[in-house]
Amino acid sequence: MSKQQHTFPNKSTSVHELLDTIKSKRTKDIDWRKGRAFCLIYHPGDEREEGIKQIFNQYYADNALNPTATPSIVELETETVSMCADLFHGDEQVCGNVTTGGTESILLAVKTARDWAKQHRPHITQPHVVIPESAHPAFMKAFHYFNIDFTVTKTGKDFSADIAATEAAIASNTILLVGSAPAYPYGVMDPIVEIAALAKRKNLLCHVDACIGGFILPFIKEAGYEIPPFDFEVDGVTSLSADVHKYGYAPKGASVVLYKNHELRRFQFSLYTKWAGGIYGSPTMTGTRAGSNIAAAWGALRSIGREGYLEMAKTTMDTTERIKKAIRSIDELEIMGETNMCIVAFKSSKIDVFMLADVLNKKGWHFERQQLPPTLHFTINYIHKDVVDEFVDDLKTSVAEVREKRLQQMGNKLQSSLVKGLSSLLPEGTIAKLQQNSKPDLDNENKAAMYGMMGALAGTGDLDKIVLDFLDTIYTAKS
Ligand SMILES: Cc1ncc(COP(=O)(O)O)c(C=O)c1O
Repeated sequence: MSKQQHTFPNKSTSVHELLDTIKSKRTKDIDWRKGRAFCLIYHPGDEREEGIKQIFNQYYADNALNPTATPSIVELETETVSMCADLFHGDEQVCGNVTTGGTESILLAVKTARDWAKQHRPHITQPHVVIPESAHPAFMKAFHYFNIDFTVTKTGKDFSADIAATEAAIASNTILLVGSAPAYPYGVMDPIVEIAALAKRKNLLCHVDACIGGFILPFIKEAGYEIPPFDFEVDGVTSLSADVHKYGYAPKGASVVLYKNHELRRFQFSLYTKWAGGIYGSPTMTGTRAGSNIAAAWGALRSIGREGYLEMAKTTMDTTERIKKAIRSIDELEIMGETNMCIVAFKSSKIDVFMLADVLNKKGWHFERQQLPPTLHFTINYIHKDVVDEFVDDLKTSVAEVREKRLQQMGNKLQSSLVKGLSSLLPEGTIAKLQQNSKPDLDNENKAAMYGMMGALAGTGDLDKIVLDFLDTIYTAKS
């Protein structure tokens, strides 16, 4: 039997040494503290972060699993939920829980809908959800985990959910409609008022995914931008998810899921009362619940407050406007969708945006690469005010550099269309070999060709296999 890459430590290692190890490992990570990452991280500034960290540390080891052991955490959680319900125009009936993130909030909302339907729509044996193509894959995870059928509807020309397509997709076993505020790919709001009205008319539940927008849209609106209603002020909305660990600026591991009323939330809970270990009742997906994350969510909302969030939203929108202005001034780039949100994605019909991404990556900038069509995606937050000029300069010079590389770009295009054509023609063995060659290499700086090829294979079983290989490889220890 071959051995593991790492043996279990026999002796203790000093924290000093461990910190040195982490320091050296971290040189590979994105430098978000310097504002170089337009993805994954939301930073409210060092001073605010320090305060929230202190609150987090108060509950460093605490477990919120048993509410009678730590009633203070229950108070922090219920106060957090109540503050959020207030922000999202909920009446006194609106309730919910703190979860570990957007995905858990969405999983719970979908599970709740399924169990609600079991009781209220007993004729439905196989529940079904209608969801726009722009919605987050956390929903697909939920459908997969909870064995729910779904129909993905095409978005309209403005990239928002198409209400006619949504209505057409409703079937006799549909239980839930979904809309995003906004959807992640282009930051575009779905027409929540129409989706919720349709849900109400058809006696369905309606979930609003405000995971990314929840803690900034109300303040963008207060700053004077037009934001359509998206929360419990909309008649027909029955649940909503919003991530405190995104624009709420709490550390990772904090979101809220809210329901229109207590009757609905009861379907979220999980019980087992016949266990020798005692009566088990759990409000969310996890068993053990980190008290630190709940406290930090509470601490972020309280320590930043409406005034702080408003100030950060104004600054972030100013930064966004400056970035958008720069993009509009570049002939090759085209912004996807109209939105008053600090998410910007652009495509190009003139240059290879993945090649542009490589050039920007080499200059130390990080962001997401999207597909169908290829776009680059920037989530702008408070920290980017410090780097916006440098970024805009680098964007302009990088586009100029890519312009020069046209010839190479044509080569890549040829390569991806070749792969696309070949994938339907070649025998299995050859495809497998192709996958081996295209295994994503995190240290490879030139990723444009790889992403181009993956884009060409999007939605095919071949790409699914590549992604499974990638996940299996990356979560296997290296020596
Ligand atoms: C709109 C939307 N929903 C859900 C999620 C999932 O959130 P998480 O990654 O915290 O699970 C995201 C994450 O970016 C999102 O943008």
